[in-house]
Amino acid sequence: MTAFLLPLLAAAALAPAAVQAQANVTGSCVTGRITFDRLRTYSNVLPGSTPKLNVSTYDMIIDYASKNVEFPSTGGASLALIKDPSGKAATGTRVSTTRYILYGKVTARFSALSLPGAVTTFISMSDRKDEIDWEIVGKDLNSAQTNVFYKGIPEFALHGSTEAVADVSKPHEYTIDWKHNTLSWAIDGVVKRTLNKDTSISPLTPPGERWYPSTPSLFQISVWDGGASDSKGTSDWAGGAIQWGSRSNITALYEWIDIQCYDDHDNPVPKWPADATVNPDKKAAPSNQPTSNDPKQQGNAAVRVGAAPMALVAAAVFGGLVSVLAL
Ligand SMILES: *[C@@H]1O[C@H](CO)[C@@H](O)[C@H](O)[C@H]1NC(C)=O
Ligand SMILES: *[C@@H]1O[C@H](CO)[C@@H](O)[C@H](O)[C@H]1NC(C)=O
Ligand SMILES: *[C@@H]1O[C@H](CO)[C@@H](O)[C@H](O)[C@H]1NC(C)=O
Repeated sequence: MTAFLLPLLAAAALAPAAVQAQANVTGSCVTGRITFDRLRTYSNVLPGSTPKLNVSTYDMIIDYASKNVEFPSTGGASLALIKDPSGKAATGTRVSTTRYILYGKVTARFSALSLPGAVTTFISMSDRKDEIDWEIVGKDLNSAQTNVFYKGIPEFALHGSTEAVADVSKPHEYTIDWKHNTLSWAIDGVVKRTLNKDTSISPLTPPGERWYPSTPSLFQISVWDGGASDSKGTSDWAGGAIQWGSRSNITALYEWIDIQCYDDHDNPVPKWPADATVNPDKKAAPSNQPTSNDPKQQGNAAVRVGAAPMALVAAAVFGGLVSVLAL
C-alpha cells in the first residue's frame, strides 16, 4: 500500500496544474476495448521471476496457470478449469489488467461455466483489497451474484446480491460502473443493482468510513473450482463437487473487456490521468503467486461460509502480488 501510493503521490505533485487541481489522481486508465490479443497478454510469469511489464505493451497478464488460457482463432480468451486426474481440486486460472483503474465503467462479455461447483468471475481488486464482484456459480444457470468488499474486511452476507440473467452459459455483458459515490452492476446494459457510498455501511465498517471501494484496482477474470473447497459453505455455495462425466476440462469464453475511464468528476474521458504519466509500469512479484488450486489462494472472494451468498473476503494472499515501480 505504502509502496504503491508513494510514487503516485509523487507523480501527482508533478502533474500539470489542471490535473493537479482535481486532486487525488491515481491509476493509469486508458479507455478502449481489450480483445485478449495473445501478443498483448503476458503469459510467462515463472515462479521466482519478476517481470516488469510495460502497460503500453501488455493489456493483460495471466497471473498463474497460463496453460489454462487459450486464444481461439475466433477471438477472445478461453479460460479452462482442468480436472485433476487424482480427483483433487481442478486447476483454474486468473487474468488481470496490467493497468490500475480508479473509477470507470468496465464491462466484460463472457459465457460462464454452468457446471455445478465451477465459479466464473469478473471483479475488481485493489492492493488493499477493495473489491467489486460479478460471480457466477455453475449451479445457478439463471442468476449471477454481485458483491463488494472494503479493505479486505471479512463480512458475511451483507453486501451481496443475486441477479437474474437468462442462461449464464450464453454470452452476456456484465458491467461494473464505479463512480466516486455510486457503484452499479448491470447485465446486458440493464442496471441490476446500485450502491450509494453515503449509505453503504454495516457493523464491521470502521467508524466514519463507508463500505466502498476507493483505491486503484486491477480488473480480473477467473475460473476456479469452488466445489472442491475444504470449506463446506464454499462448496455448497458453488454447487458441490464438479461432476465431470467424460470431460477433462470446461472452459469459459471471455470475448472482450471494455473500459471507459472517468475523471475526478465521473466524466467519461479517453484516459485518466489526462497526461497518462502516472503508473506506466506494473511489476509482478511471482514469488507470491499461488501454485495451489485452493480457491482461498485464488483471490476473488473465495471463502464462503454457510448458505450462499455468504462471503468471507479473499484470503490475504494477493496483498503483495503487484506493486508499482517508482517513476
Ligand atoms: C484527496 O484525498 C484526501 C485524502 O484522502 C482528501 O482529504 C481530499 O478531500 C481529497 N481531495 C479531493 C479533491 O477529492
Ligand atoms: C513502453 O512501450 C511503449 C510502446 O511500445 C514505448 O513507447 C515505451 O517507450 C515503453 N516504455 C518503456 C519504459 O520501455
Ligand atoms: C480441453 O479439452 C479439449 C477437448 O478434449 C481440448 O481440445 C482442449 O485443448 C482442452 N483445453 C485445455 C486448456 O486443456
